[in-house]
Amino acid sequence: MFFKALITILVILSSLVSAKTDGNVPILVYVGTYTGNTENDSKGIYAFAFNSEDSSLKPLGLVVVTQNPTFVLIHPSQRYILSVNEVKNGTVNVFKINSKQTSELTIVDQQSSGGSYPIYLSSDRLGHHIFVANYMSGTVTVLPFDMNSGRLQCTARIYQQMGSSVDPESQTSSHPHCILLDKKEEYAISADLGSDELYVYRFMSMNGTLKKQYISKSIEAGDGPRHIIFSNNHKYVYVINELSSSITVLNHYPAIRVIQKISTIPENFTSTNYAAELIIHPILDKFLYASNRGHDSIVVFAVDNNTGHLTTIQHVHVQGRTPRHFNILPGGTHLIVANQDSDNLVVFLIDLTTGKLILTNSSAQVNKPTYVTFLSP
Ligand SMILES: *[C@@H]1O[C@H](CO)[C@@H](O)[C@H](O)[C@H]1NC(C)=O
Ligand SMILES: *[C@@H]1O[C@H](CO)[C@@H](O)[C@H](O)[C@H]1NC(C)=O
Ligand SMILES: *[C@@H]1O[C@H](CO)[C@@H](O)[C@H](O)[C@H]1NC(C)=O
Ligand SMILES: *[C@@H]1O[C@H](CO)[C@@H](O)[C@H](O)[C@H]1NC(C)=O
Ligand SMILES: *[C@@H]1O[C@H](CO)[C@@H](O)[C@H](O)[C@H]1NC(C)=O
Ligand SMILES: *[C@@H]1O[C@H](CO)[C@@H](O)[C@H](O)[C@H]1NC(C)=O
Repeated sequence: MFFKALITILVILSSLVSAKTDGNVPILVYVGTYTGNTENDSKGIYAFAFNSEDSSLKPLGLVVVTQNPTFVLIHPSQRYILSVNEVKNGTVNVFKINSKQTSELTIVDQQSSGGSYPIYLSSDRLGHHIFVANYMSGTVTVLPFDMNSGRLQCTARIYQQMGSSVDPESQTSSHPHCILLDKKEEYAISADLGSDELYVYRFMSMNGTLKKQYISKSIEAGDGPRHIIFSNNHKYVYVINELSSSITVLNHYPAIRVIQKISTIPENFTSTNYAAELIIHPILDKFLYASNRGHDSIVVFAVDNNTGHLTTIQHVHVQGRTPRHFNILPGGTHLIVANQDSDNLVVFLIDLTTGKLILTNSSAQVNKPTYVTFLSP
């Protein structure tokens, strides 16, 4: 009996090992959407199995019904997925990942996001605190997270941002579009699209509170800062500006100082464009990617790791409209774009020597995709 059981275990173990090492294990991809009530509208979060051998995206269907999960966060433990509900009375959901082999999710918790129209989530490295940006109410929130139960504690800390700027449509009040910690987890920075400001908060990890340190005025009037990323070497901050379709390169806090501003669209493109997402290549930090809604492209930049400067090397059409979000898969060889207004996901290969994108023949259909993320294999 004992030996039989042992042999069974060994057989299972060795098949798991071989499944892992043949490089063909599908990666679970989760896609957030804008939802609606008609038959073709999305209804929540969708899953796909991505196979890096042939770049294919196999639809696994709707995995959870929830309203406007436009931003999705894989918890660092890989045991939970969080999403916003981008609605007036904003909420944040926690879903449990039942197994890495299936895409199935179960709801564990839902709490107020501390504002209206939440559109961004991030966490500290271990996932003890969840940060939320609430676009319409001008608030940012810290929600303590209990790893064992998967519950958000309702002792939310809510911080009101103020201000306005020059754009008569988008900048009549504060609109925080993101909030995230720097790599040392000392400061949280929020990009306020409505006021053209970067709010810098000291993060007190002991009790999960923020203390406003100062407001950086290094973004120009009318730029509309949307998302922020930090260089891997801690030295530089990259801010993508939605309204001026540009990226501002800054020295890292505490000495926030502008060192470059570069357009995300070609000089000869004069139609309307809103820049959306930016990502540094996860393995080769010498390439930075950004998306353009209007020009409908991904722009590839080379990063000078000494000066932080960007140089444009490619614009590639996204084979769709309104690339609100995109992500680079583990391994760094593939990029998936979510085209919100053409209802498709499109897969690109990344040339690891030049950083350039190469279109594959692979795509998938999903209504109004707004976010694409994945579980690490
Ligand atoms: C939904 O999509 C199907 C297939 O594309 C189409 O035939 C149908 O008219 C659509 N329904 C609505 C309400 O748009
Ligand atoms: C939203 O919140 C307000 C204030 O808390 C409440 O009065 C209202 O009923 C809520 N609306 C919905 C749709 O839940
Ligand atoms: C959190 O901790 C900081 C620093 O230790 C302290 O100044 C602050 O008062 C604390 N806030 C709360 C709400 O406990
Ligand atoms: C803009 O310039 C690029 C090359 O720099 C060229 O390929 C493209 O056709 C031009 N577009 C227009 C609209 O002139
Ligand atoms: C910059 O990159 C080069 C080559 O990739 C590497 O040798 C060098 O150490 C890097 N410098 C810094 C400051 O990271
Ligand atoms: C796309 O498909 C065509 C024809 O099926 C094939 O020749 C080509 O190599 C494919 N391209 C990529 C990047 O997979």
